[in-house]
Amino acid sequence: MRIIRAEDYEDISRIAAERIANFIAKKPDAVLGLATGSSPLGTYRRLSLLYSEGRVSFKEVRTVNLDEYVGLSAENEQSYAFFMKENLFDRVDLAPENTHIPDGLEENEEQECEEYDRLIKELGGIDLQLLGLGPNGHIAFNEPGDSFPLGTHKVRLSPATIRANSRFFEREEDIPRFAYTMGIRDILQAKQVIMLVSGAAKAEIVKEAFTGPVTPKVPASILQFHSDFTLIADTEALSLLS
Ligand code: GLP
Repeated sequence: MRIIRAEDYEDISRIAAERIANFIAKKPDAVLGLATGSSPLGTYRRLSLLYSEGRVSFKEVRTVNLDEYVGLSAENEQSYAFFMKENLFDRVDLAPENTHIPDGLEENEEQECEEYDRLIKELGGIDLQLLGLGPNGHIAFNEPGDSFPLGTHKVRLSPATIRANSRFFEREEDIPRFAYTMGIRDILQAKQVIMLVSGAAKAEIVKEAFTGPVTPKVPASILQFHSDFTLIADTEALSLLS
C-alpha cells in the first residue's frame, strides 16, 4: 500500500481529483467505483471544476456506487442517489444510463444483490474504486463482524454508523437501519483502490486499519492485501502513524 500525506482536506481533494482526471484521460471509458459521505465531496467539487475547465470529460465513463440506504428513493434528499446527482452526476457530462447505484426501494433483497454483482461483472469490473473510511473501520457499509462479506448484500447498520450518519438527518429515528452495499470481494477486485481520510477523529482507526492485523473486526484492514491501494490522508488523520 502507498500513503500520500496531504496537508488538509482541500489538498486531499485536489490530489484525488487530479489522479482521477488523469486516469480518465488514459482510459476514457473507465469504470469508476464511487463513494458518498463527506470525504469524497471535495474531490467531486474539484472534478466538476476540472470538467468546466475542459480538463476532463466523463462522456464514456461508467460508474457504480458502493451503497444505498434501504427504503429511500432516489428523490429522497438523504439517499446516496440524490447525493451523487447533486454533487457530481448533474455537474459533469456523465450519461445518466452509465451511472449505477443499488436501488434502495427494491424489496427483493436477493434479486437486487445478485443483479448488482452481475452488473459489475458485465461492466468488466471496477477500474478505480474511491473509498472513505467509517469511524469504526467500515468500508462502504461493510460493518465490523466475524467474517468478510463477499458480494453485494443487505446489511443492518451498526449503532456506531447510525450515530455517525445522524449528522445528515434531522432526527436519529429517520436514519434507515438497513443498506445495500457492495461486499469486500467486489471492492478487492477493483484494479486500483484510493481511500480518502481526513481529520484527527479518524487517526486512531487509520492506525488500527493499516498498521494492525487484517481482521473483519476492522473491515478496511483487508486493503493491506490489495496490490494497488493508495491512502490519501491529511496530517491529522496520519498523526498516529510513525
Ligand atoms: C458512510 C458510507 C461510507 C463512507 C463513510 C464515511 O457510512 N457508507 O462509504 O466511507 O460513511 O463517511 P465520511 O466520509 O462522511 O466520514
